[in-house]
Order: sequence, then structure tokens, then C-alpha cells
Amino acid sequence: MKTVAVFAAFVLIGLGNVHETESKVFTKCGLTKELLNNGFERTYVGHWVCLVESESAKNTSKVTEKADRSKSLGLFQINSKEWCKFSTAGGKCSMKCEDLLDEDIRDDSVCAKKIQRALGFRAWDGWFRSCYRRNLSIPPC
Ligand SMILES: *[C@@H]1O[C@H](CO)[C@@H](O)[C@H](O)[C@H]1NC(C)=O
Ligand SMILES: *[C@@H]1O[C@H](CO)[C@@H](O)[C@H](O)[C@H]1NC(C)=O
Repeated sequence: MKTVAVFAAFVLIGLGNVHETESKVFTKCGLTKELLNNGFERTYVGHWVCLVESESAKNTSKVTEKADRSKSLGLFQINSKEWCKFSTAGGKCSMKCEDLLDEDIRDDSVCAKKIQRALGFRAWDGWFRSCYRRNLSIPPC
């Protein structure tokens, strides 16, 4: 019984490491291209890049614990309280929170655009802090 538990722990640690290697930190140019590929409008890409730099430092696996015990996840720091659910798809974006931490930002992008349509860029404190009232044109690549 004990050996099984020890073995299980090793498997879990192993999986944890595999998951970690899936994280990715974008360059500014790489992020700009990725956002354009995901249907973000050219006019606002400068603002989205600024938002992502401010919120997650372009790190797809960033997790922030909030005072209310919710978590903000991934590139766009999407919050688990309202927009996603852990373990099973849910929230206003009908997605698993875990999926906000991998390299695939297609689902994150759909959800971020939904938040922006509902609440505007002001939904992100990082945007308000660093990007509000700035004339941000598309970063040169
Ligand atoms: C990205 O975020 C993860 C989770 O916080 C962290 O473990 C990793 O070191 C970060 N990567 C970089 C390059 O900062
Ligand atoms: C914003 O920047 C662009 C390019 O640098 C410039 O053409 C435009 O006039 C600026 N707009 C404002 C409102 O400052």
C-alpha cells in the first residue's frame, strides 16, 4: 500500500513537471503575431500587447492568487471566479481554468475578447495602470 502511494506521488510529480514545460513566455513580436493570428483587430493590438505585458509579463503559465481565493490565470490573467471552472468546463467562457495555462492561446483569446466586449479594457487593472490613455500603435516586428 505504501509503495503504491509513493509511486503515485512520483507519477504526480512527473506530470507536474511535464505540465510546467508547456508554459511559454512570448517575445513582444511573437505575441503581436499570435494575437493577429487569433483575430484581434490591428487597431487594438497595441493595447492588447500592453495589457498582456502588464498582467502576465507575457507568461502563459502565470497564476495569481486573489484575496477572495479566486485565481487569475494565464496570459490575460482571466479570473476563475466568473469566467472559468476548475476540473470541468464552466463559467461565462464555458472553459476549464486549467486550459488557460497552456501554450495554446486560442481559447484564452476567445474568452479575453468576450470579457473586453462585456466590460471593456477597464476589466483589467494592469491595462488601467499601464495602458489607459496611451496612444499604442501596433508594435513593429
Ligand atoms: C512563468 O510563470 C511560471 C508560473 O508562475 C513560472 O514558474 C515560470 O518561472 C515563469 N517563467 C518565466 C520565464 O518567468
Ligand atoms: C498616435 O500615434 C500615431 C502614430 O505614431 C499618430 O499618427 C497619431 O496622430 C497619434 N494619435 C494621437 C491621438 O496622439
